[in-house]
Amino acid sequence: MKNILTRRDWLKGTSSLAAASLVYATSAQAQSVTVKGYTPSPEDPIRMSSNENPYGITRSARIAMNKAYDVSHLYSGSGRRELAAHIAATEGIPAKNISIGSGSKEFLKVMALITELDGGTVMAANPTYHDLVRYSGWVGTNIKWIDVKKDDMSIDLDAMKAAYTDDVKIIYLCNPNNPIPTIMHKEKLREFCIEMSKKCYVMVDEAYHEYVTDPDYESMAQLAVETENMIVTRTASKIHGFAGIRVGFAFAKENLLKLMRERVTGSVNTAAVHGALASYKDQKYIDFVVGKNNEALDVLYKLFAKHNVKHIKANSNFVFFKTGIDFPEVKARFLKHGINIGRPFPPFLDWCRVSTSKPEDMEYFAEVYEKEFI
Ligand SMILES: Cc1ncc(COP(=O)(O)O)c(C=O)c1O
Repeated sequence: MKNILTRRDWLKGTSSLAAASLVYATSAQAQSVTVKGYTPSPEDPIRMSSNENPYGITRSARIAMNKAYDVSHLYSGSGRRELAAHIAATEGIPAKNISIGSGSKEFLKVMALITELDGGTVMAANPTYHDLVRYSGWVGTNIKWIDVKKDDMSIDLDAMKAAYTDDVKIIYLCNPNNPIPTIMHKEKLREFCIEMSKKCYVMVDEAYHEYVTDPDYESMAQLAVETENMIVTRTASKIHGFAGIRVGFAFAKENLLKLMRERVTGSVNTAAVHGALASYKDQKYIDFVVGKNNEALDVLYKLFAKHNVKHIKANSNFVFFKTGIDFPEVKARFLKHGINIGRPFPPFLDWCRVSTSKPEDMEYFAEVYEKEFI
């Protein structure tokens, strides 16, 4: 099981430049059964809890960030224009409709702040990703929770429409959703966005966009730049491994981007921007991460098929599956073997979210699952 990620494996899946990043193994990369000398333990577990990229950042991003220190003493954001231009070209969106932030949660939180300052209610699916709704709770905003559908656990757009009242100032949608990685059907979502953005802000969080394979999915980024009151967010934290470096994007009309920019309190890190530009250009690395994620998912799907485990398939780097056991007990049983899984996600307290790590680590997860739950 150990040390089975060879240099050849890497070269098969990625550029030699990206393969060379093995030389720079970080402590996060050390939390893998593929790393010599590492043994999973409760004190130093494999991270399957935060939907991170277990391969870390690509080598080209490291080089670009090192070079960026030459301009890091300057204000006014060297590299931002180039990064926005690159994203604009790949997405077919004008650069003026793209804002770069210190991660995407900056935009989620600032929209929560704007909602509170305007005096309105937030509408969100239950459950969904926490940053916008948790910030709203902290600043005292009313939240209208709409349960996910009973049958397929996807976000219930019809129920949202039916529950809309004039005090709702923003509808937050996560596509794919998190912790349940369902998607909303592209046509239904488009109609919903067009109709509801006439009444309030509609924010679509596409943090896992690059992982989606379902043909019923479509990004709403293009729609956001054509439609008043719409915002789409993306992030470099997931597929690019920038969770600790912090780069995110908002796509919207210029007036809305200006409104957000005037209220954010942080600013963008120059080295991070240069690193992101290199990473977004590194298609081989992106393909490599997607390929490895699919391999990791296959290990889980085989395990679930073998034991008839109810689960929601990933459009992302995580899966939601039913254990039928209270969450703290499940967490403790995995941790005993050095695996850290996700948090409890009410009301699904006998379900579990597991983030993919390297395929070899998922094999270890499968072994532990069989030992503890079968
Ligand atoms: C749906 C979703 N949106 C946003 C984020 C946060 O992204 P960022 O790191 O860009 O702030 C996450 C992180 O897990 C997420 O799952």
